[in-house]
Amino acid sequence: MRKQIVAGNWKMNMTKEEGQALISEVVNMAKDEVKANTILVLCTPAPHLGYAKRMFQSQANVFLGAQDCHEKASGAYTGEISAPILKSFEVDYVILGHSERREYFKESDELLKAKTDQALANNLIPIFCCGESLSQRQAGSGFIEFVCGQITNSLFHLSAEQFAKVVIAYEPIWAIGTGLTASSEQAQEMHAALRKHIASKYGELANEISILYGGSAKPSNAPELFACPDVDGGLIGGASLKSRDFIDIAKALK
Ligand code: 13P
Repeated sequence: MRKQIVAGNWKMNMTKEEGQALISEVVNMAKDEVKANTILVLCTPAPHLGYAKRMFQSQANVFLGAQDCHEKASGAYTGEISAPILKSFEVDYVILGHSERREYFKESDELLKAKTDQALANNLIPIFCCGESLSQRQAGSGFIEFVCGQITNSLFHLSAEQFAKVVIAYEPIWAIGTGLTASSEQAQEMHAALRKHIASKYGELANEISILYGGSAKPSNAPELFACPDVDGGLIGGASLKSRDFIDIAKALK
């Protein structure tokens, strides 16, 4: 069975005190309520990474994630954080290519290819984001090809052994933070198309790749989304800032 993952993307939220409180609530609830084979990932702002891991060391299914890494291993890049630095803080996962970074920081498919290489070279699991804009969706055609193209451009240079480590997150941009959620039919259609596209390059391996859905996921819509055969969990923004909601979403996993 594919790995079932619920990852929380805190984005640029949570002071130290708020973050510590949220992590301890999530860890306590996870112990009692979340299935042992459900993987929880907390993708915090970088300053939290230093202490966060110590708070859930005893909880085998809770992992630490960053929200980005630089495409180079080290150097004079003030303000940036490299994959080796993240790994030295025992980070497990890293979100790459989030639409907010693609939009506000002009991250290209080519740049994300280099970031993916850095992440994998340092044993970080990339949570690689893809997704179409509202205007692309409303155009009615071509959006599936666009999203598959993002995968081709940034990931299809990987060997099968490397690709096997990647987690994909489909996040329709029009559903992020808007309260609009893709219907389960829309999510399933895209996830199945992505899996077929991955199979065209990597064959059977496609069935082993976890593809998460992201975009206004919440406890009320998670059961329907996670029931889709090709949806293997979620990348959760706003609802990951509330321990009860985040855990309830995780409990909706298959
Ligand atoms: P929301 O869940 O707040 O819509 O954010 C989704 C997201 O961007 C996760 O990376």
